[in-house]
Amino acid sequence: MLSIIILAAGQGTRMKSEIPKVLHKLAGRTLLEHVYISASRLEHRMINIVYGYGGKKVPETLSHLPVNWIEQEHQLGTGHAVNLALHTIPQDDHVLILYGDIPLITFETLSALIEDSNETGFSLLTSYIEDPKGYGRIVRNAIGVLEKIVEDKDADETQRSICEINTGIMVVRASLLKNWLSQLDKNNAQGEYYLTDIVEHAVEQKVQVNSKSPESVMEVRGVNDRAQLSELERYYQLIQAHHLMKLGVTLLDPARFDLRGDLETGEDVEIDVNVIIEGSVSIGNNVKIGANCYINNADINDGTEIFPNSYIENTVIGKNCRVGPFARVRPESRLDNNVHIGNFVEIKKTDVGEGTKINHLSYIGDSSLGKNINIGAGTITCNYDGAHKHHTIIEDDVFIGSDTQLVAPVTIKKGATVGAGTTVIRDVETGELIHNKIEHTNVKNWKRPVKK
Ligand code: UD1
Ligand code: CA
Repeated sequence: MLSIIILAAGQGTRMKSEIPKVLHKLAGRTLLEHVYISASRLEHRMINIVYGYGGKKVPETLSHLPVNWIEQEHQLGTGHAVNLALHTIPQDDHVLILYGDIPLITFETLSALIEDSNETGFSLLTSYIEDPKGYGRIVRNAIGVLEKIVEDKDADETQRSICEINTGIMVVRASLLKNWLSQLDKNNAQGEYYLTDIVEHAVEQKVQVNSKSPESVMEVRGVNDRAQLSELERYYQLIQAHHLMKLGVTLLDPARFDLRGDLETGEDVEIDVNVIIEGSVSIGNNVKIGANCYINNADINDGTEIFPNSYIENTVIGKNCRVGPFARVRPESRLDNNVHIGNFVEIKKTDVGEGTKINHLSYIGDSSLGKNINIGAGTITCNYDGAHKHHTIIEDDVFIGSDTQLVAPVTIKKGATVGAGTTVIRDVETGELIHNKIEHTNVKNWKRPVKK
């Protein structure tokens, strides 16, 4: 069986952050979750995560992950961290060691590495990097046999010129690992228990160390500072964008599209530039999303068009709707089919029935709207009395004139008409027209003042 250890105890000094490094986010998910997701796809016994910096912050933030959390109080080195996790792992297991700050490692690469370890019980993931500064270097003998790993700080000039680096990721049989880890010491430049020293012990005991490399070096790039985080973010966004295009989505500019979560798409979806999609979003067939839209946890059905600069959060939108430009649909709203929400309209916690139109400049909150209603420009549901929220009900076929205030709780019954400029403070019955009492004064021959 395979046991997995993810090392995540470090602070990440260069992030200059209170937040433990592995909790920083890439494409909307913490770095550690990215590693977890790839690891969890492998057939395995248990995922063990070693945490330390930031106290309980890491396990508390990610308490939904079904893993074994192991605290490393003092960060005495990667060898020490692995050793802490090893106690619960059966001797015959193979142990995959991963790093919480190397987020883009893929399932495919890990599968290949695990297979490669079967033969001798030890395989190392190495990679070639143009600027290997900071990494442990892979030292091989004249015929290419792996001899040891030398840390950057312990390396001599010749060793520093080696471009094959230790990614840190490896698979080792637990029994071997236990034996070697017990022999580690701190006689090195950093005074730490280096996991990497196990290679020398393997060589001494004539255990051959195999090695594999990932398809892309980006898979093994670590995050040490914010610049590296942004590089991985851009790379990952492009990978996601190309995946979506392969599935048949049109992205007008794959470099200006951000997906921070999961997106399901139907056929012939078109997404214009600078769209941000967050959380869990599903988009049906023939949906168009205009430029600069922000969409979070939404379900958008076939034939709907979201016009530019709209903000949609935690909402279900039916088929053939038109939303925006400049619309804001806030959480817990539901738009049925053929609904139109126009510019500068804000909807909150509201059900909107089929065919209803709210085309301009309105706030509709805490409301239930029936079918085929027309809501005029400047309509406001006054849902808040300073202490409590109240509900507004508007039944089918109601017509609401422009510049209207609906003071909740209030119900406008089926087919009723509200005249422009009305402040509605009582229910309106079917068949009624309601409007404010208006007195006009017409001044004849009125001369407007002129500037002197
Ligand atoms: C380590 C490797 C180096 C490799 C590099 C790849 C060692 C000695 N060196 O160096 O060969 O090229 O990774 O990125 O292993 N951690 C703990 N507890 C500790 C120390 C570290 O959990 O006591 C975790 C860190 O949070 C981090 C990972 O282990 O996720 C690597 O630690 P770091 O200090 O960054 O090691 P490097 O010096 O980069
Ligand atoms: Ca590192």
